[in-house]
Amino acid sequence: MSFTVIKHPLILDKLTRMRRKETSSKDFRENLNEIGQLMVYEIFRDVPLSEIEIETPVQKTLGYTITKPVVLIPIIRAGLGMTEGIQTLVPTSRIAHVGLYRNEETLEPVQYYAKPTQDIDKSFVIVVDPMLATGGSASKAISIAKEWGAKNIKFVCLVSVQEGVDRLLKDHPDVDIYTASLDPILNEDGYIVPGLGDAGDRIFGTK
Ligand code: PRP
Ligand code: URA
Repeated sequence: MSFTVIKHPLILDKLTRMRRKETSSKDFRENLNEIGQLMVYEIFRDVPLSEIEIETPVQKTLGYTITKPVVLIPIIRAGLGMTEGIQTLVPTSRIAHVGLYRNEETLEPVQYYAKPTQDIDKSFVIVVDPMLATGGSASKAISIAKEWGAKNIKFVCLVSVQEGVDRLLKDHPDVDIYTASLDPILNEDGYIVPGLGDAGDRIFGTK
């Protein structure tokens, strides 16, 4: 298992725009989409490649193709906003969905939807959610992916805290975690501080 904070000036600039409370829902979505695209470079660094023979207009040559199918699993709702950017750069990826919301008192995830894709056991699987707070939602979504047969799993988020990282390390030590920021604190209401507020509400304009 690895834990990687992807640091890049463009990501830092866009994440800062997202954190600002006055940022509109439209700008929040656009920046999330763009950060998703920028993070893809690092997440796919070790994706297995196969050599293939192709023919250019000039001659035959060897090229490369991603060996396994790619499956993205957004945790609905907020994961949807980050998945679009990743899919832009990997347009052949399939999308499976897991719907979870946190119980506001217990902070435990409640499942309301799950839809797998074919061949998930043979795929390079990426579970996507912008927020890794207590880690309950990510852990549950990864467990569901494993029940579907997924073996080669990565988890990507925008903002994380140590509690969530530790929870994933304990529950899923085989999963690599990628984030754009490890924030300092999880407050008593389960919000990341400084964070960016409720990601789902900011993406969908629901508060
Ligand atoms: C948010 C977020 C994660 C979860 C993270 O979703 O998108 O799924 O909280 O918190 P955790 O690490 O403590 O589980 P939320 O439950 O607010 O649902 P939503 O996406 O529908 O807004
Ligand atoms: N979910 C969010 O959307 N934001 C947080 O800060 C924590 C969980």
